[in-house]
Amino acid sequence: MTSDLAGNGTAAGSTEAKVTIRGLTKSFGPVLALTDIDLDLHENEFVSVVGTSGCGKSTLLSIIAGLTERTEGSVRVDGAEVTGPGRDRGVVFQGSTLLPWLSALDNVKFALQDEPIAAAERTAIAREHLSLVGLDGFEDSYPAQLSGGMQQRVALARSLSYRPGILLMDEPFGALDALTRREMQALLIRVWEKHRLTVMMITHDIEEAIITSDRVIVMSRRPGTIRAELPVPLERPRRPEMNADPVFRDLFSTVLGMVHEPAPIP
Ligand SMILES: Nc1ncnc2c1ncn2[C@@H]1O[C@H](COP(=O)(O)OP(=O)(O)O)[C@@H](O)[C@H]1O
Ligand SMILES: [Mg+2]
Repeated sequence: MTSDLAGNGTAAGSTEAKVTIRGLTKSFGPVLALTDIDLDLHENEFVSVVGTSGCGKSTLLSIIAGLTERTEGSVRVDGAEVTGPGRDRGVVFQGSTLLPWLSALDNVKFALQDEPIAAAERTAIAREHLSLVGLDGFEDSYPAQLSGGMQQRVALARSLSYRPGILLMDEPFGALDALTRREMQALLIRVWEKHRLTVMMITHDIEEAIITSDRVIVMSRRPGTIRAELPVPLERPRRPEMNADPVFRDLFSTVLGMVHEPAPIP
């Protein structure tokens, strides 16, 4: 599978999107979690996915990450069918997934252990990515010595360190307080605007979805399917105060209405 190679390349001659999902269905035994999902994620696009709890967002992300098998349909990355996890896709989850017995620097280096590079270069790349997320001076701190926001920054640095073309994030700031969340959103916007890559972020925070994204995907209640794909017509660079913009407020109301629409009465 070509996706084992790091990088942002697309299959030769392909005009396909970075990620192409067609007719995706997922059942857990008798429970139909996802049905008939068609979705494209484009090169260097930032997409957020919102939907009620249990609608299948995490399942969708996990299938793209290659951590969960699909029941039916096709998921292609750079034109190649996903058959498992790969270095072309970085993943960040809500809770800290750092190794508690390793320093921040060693947590990032751990992710680079299979890269065919010299030890000094591994250290340099790890430092560079900790710096990218604003953690200069915290290289030697252990996860327990870092705040929740800082731990998520290390997790982000770790996932970016091997330069995946795709970053998949499942409610990455969901466990953080409101103020830290805003800081992390600003950081994520800065990082993405500097080092473009294809991002899919799941969030239950509609403001977060709009301020960060090029497109907001709204999923229906379970069985999850794509209810709407809404472009965000706000200029870049994004700034926190754009949440007062009438364009932002209109989109917020639209998304909120779609997410919380009552389930149809059978
Ligand atoms: N490993 C699993 N085994 C059985 N059911 C699961 C499993 N993972 C998820 N589900 C079910 O699939 C549905 C979608 O779950 P999930 O993708 O976690 O939703 P979301 O992330 O949108 O809250 C839920 O009904 C959930 O109970
Ligand atoms: Mg979830």
